[in-house]
Amino acid sequence: MTIRDNVSTKVAISDVTLDESIYPRENIDHKRVSIFAENLRDNIKFDPIEVQVHPKKEGQYRILDGVHRWNAHKEVGLTDIQVIIKDLKAIDPLLYAAKMAIGPKQLTEKETRSTARRAFQNNPRLTSSEIGRLIGRSRQTIANYIADLKAVRQIKLDQKIWRMNRLGIPQERIAMRLGETRDIIRNHLGKMLILTKSPNTDLSQGLTIPQVAAKHGWTEPMLWSWVLEGKSDQSRFKDLGWGLRTWDLWNFNDCDHRFGDEWPGRIPAQMIAHILFYFSNPNDLIFDPMAGGGVTADTSLALGRRCWSLDMEDRADNRPEIEPYHWDMTLNNWEDTILAGKEKPDLIIFDPPYFQKKADSYGENSIARMPRQEYLHFLDNFFRFLKNNTRKTTRLALINSDWRDFQSCPALEEETQNAILLTDYYKILEPAGWELTHIIQAPLSSERFNAIMVSAMQEKKILGVTSRYILLLKQKNS
Ligand SMILES: C[S@@+](CC[C@H](N)C(=O)[O-])C[C@H]1O[C@@H](n2cnc3c(N)ncnc32)[C@H](O)[C@@H]1O
Repeated sequence: MTIRDNVSTKVAISDVTLDESIYPRENIDHKRVSIFAENLRDNIKFDPIEVQVHPKKEGQYRILDGVHRWNAHKEVGLTDIQVIIKDLKAIDPLLYAAKMAIGPKQLTEKETRSTARRAFQNNPRLTSSEIGRLIGRSRQTIANYIADLKAVRQIKLDQKIWRMNRLGIPQERIAMRLGETRDIIRNHLGKMLILTKSPNTDLSQGLTIPQVAAKHGWTEPMLWSWVLEGKSDQSRFKDLGWGLRTWDLWNFNDCDHRFGDEWPGRIPAQMIAHILFYFSNPNDLIFDPMAGGGVTADTSLALGRRCWSLDMEDRADNRPEIEPYHWDMTLNNWEDTILAGKEKPDLIIFDPPYFQKKADSYGENSIARMPRQEYLHFLDNFFRFLKNNTRKTTRLALINSDWRDFQSCPALEEETQNAILLTDYYKILEPAGWELTHIIQAPLSSERFNAIMVSAMQEKKILGVTSRYILLLKQKNS
């Protein structure tokens, strides 16, 4: 590691801050500050302190070395201070600060331990030798300091790899997503059976799935995927406690909280499970291009399907299986997505924002912020893209709701140009090469409307929307 020194310059004291997250010491030594202040009053010159540009506060610098000198300047009432602005490149600033602290006044054992642990938590790819070299301790000492953190990280990494592999994500994509080499991924995959050993023992001794999940840090869908292996779809429904709907009206009172995260616009896992049951086969590849809280991936695990997911929101730690991607109409680089490879999905489950509903809950560049024409134009392009980049046999399940601007408007006065109805979706799907095979009703819950709201709506002749549909489509022979 090389550090590029930059020249010394003067900056305002008020532009320099102490950032606790990169300060290796426990406390500031006030006696030392007073001595330095006395020296300053006697006109004794000090070396410049070292700072770096603050990564979060514009126009500010954070101290890498010289907290006591900086405090002394403030005590004396000086308004500026001589600094060297460092460019650390890839060097961890906490470790650099610790290295600089070794010279004048050694860090205590407690401070060294805490610095090593904090540095590892910030960047788990640092080796014990690298940390040791920078803060003046042996590799073995650092290894002891961080042994527990390393073990937890190892288990977490194993679990992420297990889940992503189970969902059929190729090794090179797992490696890229987790920032590891393919060799490391291969190596971990070779030891996956060991990972399931303790949960397995606990399950066979009668612990429930939530108990085992909590004990071993597994997610419940991962455990379901494991315990239901080899079972038929129907048995899986039974074990999961889901009644199987035989007709095309799928009413579900609530989301199943075991599957997917709290997420604006979250859909019930039971609904995804029914789509998977009727329109896919075990081990099929499912694609969810706007995956949100991950309910499709979780349900796919429980029903033994593989699943690739994308979303513009990146939650690398909790949801590594949802790969970050923003469908941007202006860029037109959609062909470079995970659909570029040879393997194509058997079924696409597409649950986009229902036009502007919940627009405030999604990111600024979400399609929910688009005006009506643009939103429909986006979907038009998107359906064509899906058609052209999948197989002839790929099916599409589009989940959507009628959108009418009904909130404070009597039914007779609603403006049709603001509405998007089921038929509007079909008007673009058909020319984009998709043929409708089923329309399934899966209504939204109306529980969010309380009695007072309902009576006010009735008073004004407002007609609310609880309709939600799943349109099932296959590719037209053209
Ligand atoms: C209705 S939510 C999906 C909810 C999901 N099915 C669930 O049950 O949790 C729609 C998702 O689309 C994503 N989204 C909206 N516009 C997007 C875009 N242009 N590119 C990628 N994702 C987008 C949002 O971040 C949001 O998570």
